Amino acid sequence: MKIVVIQGPNLNMLRVREQQVYGPMRLEQIHAQMKEFAAQNGVDIEFYQSNLEGEIVDRIQECYGDADGIIINPAAYTHTSIAIRDAISAVSLPTIEVHISNIYRREEFRQKSMTAPVCTSSIIGFGPFGYHLAMMGMLQILSEINA
Ligand code: DQA
Repeated sequence: MKIVVIQGPNLNMLRVREQQVYGPMRLEQIHAQMKEFAAQNGVDIEFYQSNLEGEIVDRIQECYGDADGIIINPAAYTHTSIAIRDAISAVSLPTIEVHISNIYRREEFRQKSMTAPVCTSSIIGFGPFGYHLAMMGMLQILSEINA
C-alpha cells in the first residue's frame, strides 16, 4: 500500500512563516512523524512539495496506477486551482485534503476550496496534527476498500 503526500506552495516555509497561524513545526518534522506512523502500519509513503501549480498537477497524475491514496495540502492553490482540482478528479484515488489552519475562521478568500469537493474528505484546523489524522483516515478508507 502506498500513500503520496503532496504539499503546496510555501509549506516548505513552515516554522519561518506566520507561526501564530501555522505553529513552530517544520515540514520535515511533520513528514518524519508521518513516516514513522506509516512504517508502524506497513505502508509505503512518499513526500513531495512544490511551489508550482503545474508540478503539483504532474505529481498528482504520477499517482495514477502507482499510489493507493493521496494526502494533499494544496495551500494557496486550494482557493484558485481548477487545474489541481481536475487532476484530483482525473486520477480518481482516495484523496484527503489537509489544512493546518482553520480556513473557515480566516479571510473570506480562504473560505472557499476549489479542491475539497473532489476529495474524499477534508481535515481542517487541527494544526500539524491534521496530517496524522489524515494518515489514520486514509488507512481506514483503504482498509474498507480492500476488505
Ligand atoms: C493552508 C491554508 C491556505 O489558505 C494557505 O494559503 C496556506 C496553508 C493551511 O494549511 O492552513 O498556504 O493550506
